Amino acid sequence: MTSIKQVSIQTLQDMKSAGDRIAMLTAYDFFMAQTLDEGGVEILLVGDTVGMAVGGHSTTIPVRLDQIVYHAEMVARGASRAMVVGDLPFLTYQVTTEDAVQNAGKLMQAGKVHAVKLEGGRSMVPIVKSILRAGIPVMGHLGLTPQSVYRFGGWKVQGRDAVSAQQVRDAALALQDAGCFAIVLEAIPADLARDVSQSLDIPTIGIGAGPHCDGQVLVTPDMLGVTGFTARYIKHYAQLRTVIHDAVRQYVADVKSGSYPTEQHAY
Ligand code: KIV
Repeated sequence: MTSIKQVSIQTLQDMKSAGDRIAMLTAYDFFMAQTLDEGGVEILLVGDTVGMAVGGHSTTIPVRLDQIVYHAEMVARGASRAMVVGDLPFLTYQVTTEDAVQNAGKLMQAGKVHAVKLEGGRSMVPIVKSILRAGIPVMGHLGLTPQSVYRFGGWKVQGRDAVSAQQVRDAALALQDAGCFAIVLEAIPADLARDVSQSLDIPTIGIGAGPHCDGQVLVTPDMLGVTGFTARYIKHYAQLRTVIHDAVRQYVADVKSGSYPTEQHAY
């Protein structure tokens, strides 16, 4: 039996050094995690987008820690090679560092993730350091951080003007210095993402951040065409909603016509 070498922080660091790009996708359940792992992604993110892409909410804000733990545990069981990263949901890490460490610990212990991800810039530095002191690796997330969507006044590209671009640059360096092993850059101009990626030793993972990051992440049900969500940054690699519609219509027609089930499907 060949043993599968699990992706680690060091693997990701080596990939950045070698100029090998990192593929990351979201996963929320066992079978999808297994399929994406078999497909070769390096990182499976149990994102709080589960609230939108699975739960039908319009933001990630309603998602709770127990829900992420529930999904993370399934994903971790399905992953053989990929690193599993769990999102810390809204208000599970912003209030006190004690809460942040406890909640990150729960996600790692009960959800079996290998690392946690949290959103935010400089103000997150003490929180990142505390979580790391507990032995839990942290991925940062800058730019259009969805848990702050109302503060941004909507789903708007961040870092367009000189001041906010500099804030992203400074925050990225601060998160790296605090010990983050990678940073997601969401919805920022491609030139800014390139500058940030070049200025950091740790990998950047882009989403709506252009082609110059060290890796890419997408929300799997979006990229597979399940949710029907489209945006300029998304490439649809399949149209599974159409495939499912066709299959369901055929099933309904077969049941109604009596052509399924037949004797062949009987015990
Ligand atoms: O929750 C999530 O899926 C994310 C990605 C969009 C990066 O944070």
